[in-house]
Amino acid sequence: MKHLKGKHFITTEDWSKEELEHLMDLSHDLKAKKLKGEVSNLLENQTVFMLFFEQSTRTRNSMGCGITQFGGNSHDLTPDKVQISHGETAKDTAIVLGRMGHAIACRCCFYDKGNKYLNELAAHSPVPVMNLQCDLYHPMQMLADMMVMQEKFGKNLQGLNLTISWAYAESHAKPISVPLEQMLMFTRFGMNVTVAHPEEFPLLPAMVDKAHGYAKESSGSLKFTNDMDAGFEGAHIVIPKNWGGFANFDKWEDSPQQWEQMQANLAKHKDWICDERRMGLADPNVKYMHALPADRGKEVTDAVIDNEKWSIIYDEAENRLHTAKAVMAATMAGV
Ligand code: CP
Repeated sequence: MKHLKGKHFITTEDWSKEELEHLMDLSHDLKAKKLKGEVSNLLENQTVFMLFFEQSTRTRNSMGCGITQFGGNSHDLTPDKVQISHGETAKDTAIVLGRMGHAIACRCCFYDKGNKYLNELAAHSPVPVMNLQCDLYHPMQMLADMMVMQEKFGKNLQGLNLTISWAYAESHAKPISVPLEQMLMFTRFGMNVTVAHPEEFPLLPAMVDKAHGYAKESSGSLKFTNDMDAGFEGAHIVIPKNWGGFANFDKWEDSPQQWEQMQANLAKHKDWICDERRMGLADPNVKYMHALPADRGKEVTDAVIDNEKWSIIYDEAENRLHTAKAVMAATMAGV
């Protein structure tokens, strides 16, 4: 699709269903070619600047490996490696990097700032900008999730029962962008989406309203429950994962009361764990997914995440590579 060359990838919402289906087809094709050992120099001598405000295993390495496999290279940047830590603006960063390389990719999850930062980069960049996760969206993860679902259930996902559930965790205040965009994306493709969460951890109301509209358009459905067990009943796919409240994740040290409130809310829901009993409430062929990293023993038991009949987490993670390559091929080469 030639018109995709130069298109930013900030959220799947900016891409039509036809364009997303094209990325899916491309991802499956690239995976098959890699398995056959086929080599491509599609992006030879091209550079992707990767700017990470937060840690990453899958996103960083799928992008880095992906561009290498296309004959190009990546620069792995953090704010302290460039002049952002001295206050250089998104506009100046985007224009300067865009005049040197061929794409800018960025992760910035600070609540109420990350998506604005990505959009500021995109507004000024002469090359495509790719969102590697912000406070509201994680589009690269959405593609890998959709790809693994297609591998397990077939290309048409219409009518599948998918449950996005909040789960308890202690490792860090996980961003809300993954469940938000999953709700928005999967309602567009006709799935029956259930969101289960404690009252204290709702999704953003404006996004919920949009997702109801998408579900109606696609003849799918969207419902909510505050009961994790009820959320699991009859599910073909469960995605239990922690998310924090609406907080400035970079400002905990300035907001001790907000932090204490979050901890108190978290402590009330230690029983929100994905375990064998709950998997037994779902469809007999249910699949367990997680974007990773998972808090083992908190979000999910080892008996579930290591169960090869249920868990498809490693296929899901591997697909980050094939889908990242598809996004780069489409936006940098117009494939
Ligand atoms: N799922 C995901 O984005 O993983 P990383 O944070 O390791 O990139």
